[in-house]
Amino acid sequence: MNSKDNYIKIFDTTLRDGEQSPGASMSLEEKIQIAEIFDEMGVDIIEAGFPIASNGDFESVKEVSRIVKNVQVCGLSRAGQKDIDRAAEALKYAKNPRIHTFISTSPVHMQYKLQMNEQEVLDAINFSVSRARNLVEDVQWSAEDATRTDRDFLFKCVDMAISSGATTINIPDTVGYTTPDEYYEIIDSLIKNIPDSDKVIFSTHCHNDLGLAVANSLSGVRAGARQIECTMNGIGERAGNAALEEIVMSMKVRNDILDYDSGVETKLFTRASKLVSSVTSFPVQFNKAIVGKNAFAHESGIHQDGMLKNNETYEIMTPESIGLNESTLVMGKHSGRHAFKEKAKELGYVLADNQLNDAFYRFKDLADKKKEVFDDDIVALIDDEFSKGLDVIKLVSLSIYAGTEGPQFADLSLEIDGEVKQNKSEGDGPVDALFNSIRTLIPHTASLQLYQVHAVTEGTDAQAEVSVRLHESGKTVIGRGADTDTLVASARAYISALNRLMVKREKSIPEEIAN
Ligand code: KIV
Ligand code: ZN
Repeated sequence: MNSKDNYIKIFDTTLRDGEQSPGASMSLEEKIQIAEIFDEMGVDIIEAGFPIASNGDFESVKEVSRIVKNVQVCGLSRAGQKDIDRAAEALKYAKNPRIHTFISTSPVHMQYKLQMNEQEVLDAINFSVSRARNLVEDVQWSAEDATRTDRDFLFKCVDMAISSGATTINIPDTVGYTTPDEYYEIIDSLIKNIPDSDKVIFSTHCHNDLGLAVANSLSGVRAGARQIECTMNGIGERAGNAALEEIVMSMKVRNDILDYDSGVETKLFTRASKLVSSVTSFPVQFNKAIVGKNAFAHESGIHQDGMLKNNETYEIMTPESIGLNESTLVMGKHSGRHAFKEKAKELGYVLADNQLNDAFYRFKDLADKKKEVFDDDIVALIDDEFSKGLDVIKLVSLSIYAGTEGPQFADLSLEIDGEVKQNKSEGDGPVDALFNSIRTLIPHTASLQLYQVHAVTEGTDAQAEVSVRLHESGKTVIGRGADTDTLVASARAYISALNRLMVKREKSIPEEIAN
């Protein structure tokens, strides 16, 4: 393959490496929603999961393969036969399946993690790539911890992967250790020294431990890599992965010196970023490049003055180019169903009739309580509706007694599998009382790992968006709820997490394939 061609494949791993961020678990429905946006966006490859790791990952690869229209789907596997076969099985509906198999190549990983010597690793590469290549046409091989690997050994491994049939060679900076110059040099030397390097595509996969993931990825491209692995909002293990939106926007805005193209439609960035943030409950930092709340905000008088005279004084790209449009419809309590449907469409949601009815009912309720209903309010409300799905537990009513004169208590009614149950519990504060009440009505052993409240907009009448993370025997779930009443939002979030936990309990990995 020609490394001079300037098309860069965008390989998104939000659903795999992104989901590996501690606490960022996503349900199958959420993964499908995210995959649909990436498909529409023109991403080239989606890594939809690690099929051997759990039934949830297996289903994700299988269902994403079924529903996407254009994007290629990939499943991750280690070097063993069970992993590879499971990945191929998950990919059976994919039009153009890719198996991504990896093994560690650095001395520290080989000695302590794999307890394998160099020859054993080379044999495993030969076995895994050949096995995968017998099952699918497109095989990607990764040298885990490549940037801390002895260079001569890395050459041998890449050479072995190519001769065993790999079509893409990925050079991960697994621990975010490299720098732009060093990474350039690694990719450049591989391309120059490996005899058949022109038969494969080289790929970057950079973690952000030193804040260099995007710079390193672009440096790898300058050296000849033609695929970049990245995630939306840069989520991923530890400090995350290279951020998709930063990479694509850098190539677009500085095309004069980064003369590369991708097939990605940047106008979908705002929508995709909000979806990933809301699904994972990982807030996007306000000053995050491209998709942060403040990325296009101008506060100082001098800047505002310049902007009023000409946007180019302080903006190197337009908000519209990332899908941050001036709202065309202002919503309030007089807005009707049609306007609400149009607004939802403008924000990127296509609502089925029943979803529209429920969301519209909640919107009317919100508009009665709040002076102004902002786009972010509507996004929070619709996300909340979407996350309800086929819930077994539903909130019926909640009253709270709180304040300086204790004891604080919650009086809660829930519908559980069609039957309404009521409980009154005390607690150390209103949230504690509420959660005690939920625990009494639905006894469970899951531990509460996170309780997070976030105001959707400014003002004391803002909606609160609450996230609750629960953990039970290796399974983590996140529930979210939104309401102008923080305690109602808290109840919705906890209940949503419990509903998800029930679904997860039914989907554990069978023992025979776990090891
Ligand atoms: O960071 C890494 O090395 C990975 C591999 C599995 C590609 O995510
Ligand atoms: Zn990674």
